[in-house]
Amino acid sequence: MAGRLAGKVAVITGSGTGIGQAIAIRYASEGATVVVNYLEHPEQADETKARAEAAGGKAITIQGDVSKIADTNRLIDQTWQQLGRCDILVNNAGIEIGANFWDITEADYDRVLDVNLKGAFFLTQAFVRRLRDAKRPGRVINMSSVHEDMVFPHFPTYCAAKGGMRMLMRDLAVELGPLGITVNNIAPGAISTPINARMMANPTELNALLANIPLGRMGTVDDVAGLALFLASDDGAYVTGSTYVIDGGLMRNYHEQ
Ligand code: NAI
Repeated sequence: MAGRLAGKVAVITGSGTGIGQAIAIRYASEGATVVVNYLEHPEQADETKARAEAAGGKAITIQGDVSKIADTNRLIDQTWQQLGRCDILVNNAGIEIGANFWDITEADYDRVLDVNLKGAFFLTQAFVRRLRDAKRPGRVINMSSVHEDMVFPHFPTYCAAKGGMRMLMRDLAVELGPLGITVNNIAPGAISTPINARMMANPTELNALLANIPLGRMGTVDDVAGLALFLASDDGAYVTGSTYVIDGGLMRNYHEQ
């Protein structure tokens, strides 16, 4: 199939829902074969696969917990075994746990850091080792957040993880550039997805947020997918070491309530 990602294989973590799902479908519509990674709901991954195929691409699903190194290695190994290559990695899987700083448990800290940062770290390592051995170029796209830079009181674990992802991206852009591998972050603001379900169900909180967004609306998953397509496509070939904020202007106009 023709398209801006024709012939490419892309792994997108946590792509049974939300932003990851939209990226998988967009990539498939541009000719990529997509690997739909999911944690615990095969039916969601199957839905992404069906929609990716309806969009004209190919898709497979692979279960795996990105916070487990054995799973990250298996995800890349199975991709190469089944599809013979892997050109694009989107580290999208992420969670947030809100709590007062003084109440955060070690288990909550470990879970957020392990999924959001350690997962991206070691999955990228497995992805890069294969490219290095095959002498092939590649693209790494991390789903960071405006909170890689902007405060988010009561979510310090999330900020620590996304802030870590910011420096990980910058560091790897330099180390992996000579291998022809680009590394960039996408930093979404407020996007309508399941991660924001609680906030979106509370009209007071939602309206306060919308008042802070110059474009006056939350972002859609398709807004983010368009940017992820640019970074994965030939148009993004010379972009590395950057964070792309996609937030309707929120970051320039944010006031904590
Ligand atoms: P979501 O909750 O729909 O997506 C997260 C996905 O990650 C889910 O499919 C979940 O099953 C998966 N996941 C969680 N733990 C996993 C694990 N251990 N292994 C594999 N998969 C796992 O929410 P959304 O919004 O689509 O989130 C995607 C990314 O975008 C996250 O990294 C999030 O931090 C980031 N983000 C989202 C924003 C928003 O406003 N929705 C804003 C800024 C960043």
